[in-house]
Amino acid sequence: MKFRSVIAGCGSYLPERILTNDELSTKVETTDEWIASRTGIRQRHIAAEGELTSDLAYQAALKALEHAGKTADDLDMVILGTTTPDQTFPATATRVQAMLGMTRGIAFDLQAVCSGFIFSLSVADNFIRTGQAKTVLVIGAETFSRILDWEDRTTCVLFGDGAGAVILEAADTSGVDGEGERGILSTHLHSDGRFNDILYVDGGPSSTQTVGRVHMAGREVFRHAVVNLAGVVDEALTANGLSRTDIDWLVPHQANKRILDGTARKLGLAEDHVVVTVDRHANTSAASIPLALDEAVRDGRIRPGQLVLMEAMGGGLTWGAALVRW
Ligand code: UT7
Repeated sequence: MKFRSVIAGCGSYLPERILTNDELSTKVETTDEWIASRTGIRQRHIAAEGELTSDLAYQAALKALEHAGKTADDLDMVILGTTTPDQTFPATATRVQAMLGMTRGIAFDLQAVCSGFIFSLSVADNFIRTGQAKTVLVIGAETFSRILDWEDRTTCVLFGDGAGAVILEAADTSGVDGEGERGILSTHLHSDGRFNDILYVDGGPSSTQTVGRVHMAGREVFRHAVVNLAGVVDEALTANGLSRTDIDWLVPHQANKRILDGTARKLGLAEDHVVVTVDRHANTSAASIPLALDEAVRDGRIRPGQLVLMEAMGGGLTWGAALVRW
């Protein structure tokens, strides 16, 4: 039998509290005009005190399960892409597993920073393709506000908190004409550790025994993002014998509207075929793609049969893409 992963449902969750650019400009020397024109961001959601990454992930997971018409008992695996786990260990995914009432299967975290959802999706897809799992919950969840230096205007204006999730289900595609097209067509992952120091957190259990704060050489990361994303998008299309004009929807990692526009231009995609949430969510790291995906599926933009391209780049550097026939 030949299995492929079909996305059976999705869900997302945003903390209630909204922090606007105007409010931020009362805390650090910045303006709504600077943030909006350089990044497209107008506001971000911030987790409440005591609200943890696992809480956000759990809420998104519940919605994804409901959307897929499944319960926690159906799940074989939970993969949580996050850079902001509740604790150094155990894996936050195991907390979510317990919150969901799952008593079997496996759960683990995956660390690829902003590429965390694409990496998690790829790992889940490979478990399904090899027949080792049938139903997998893939989550991207972050409380990035907890690792920001709120006095550093070059980083604190860029990020937000949130979570998104999808349920992947094995579909037997052997010998079924046409049917085989649905689901994850391929995933493509990359990393290059030579660029560790252009986007990093200056702490950790082994180095400083502190959590640390985010540092980024923004302009340099921007330059790599444009080149790496264009490369991995072409790689995904070539691997499937598809061309740029075949793409119906681009669901990119939401770091900067200027990066989204650049990728869309390269693909020859009109603006209304790019799912944009960066204006309202800011950069939610591993959560940004499933948050955007959930929005566009629920409002009816993404429809069955359409070709959806997801891509992301983040600290590591890490980058990747996934092509999905909805
Ligand atoms: O999700 C992971 C991947 N991350 C990314 O892809 C992010 C990639 N990078 C970016 O999105 C952009 O580089 C930023 C949005 C981070 C920065 O935009 P930029 O156009 O590259 O600005 P810059 O860093 O070159 O800074 C331009 C100026 C500087 O002042 P001087 O040196 O020209 O006088 C900064 O000090 O803007 C200043 N600046 C600010 N001014 C007001 C930096 N941050 C702010 C701020 N408010 N918040």
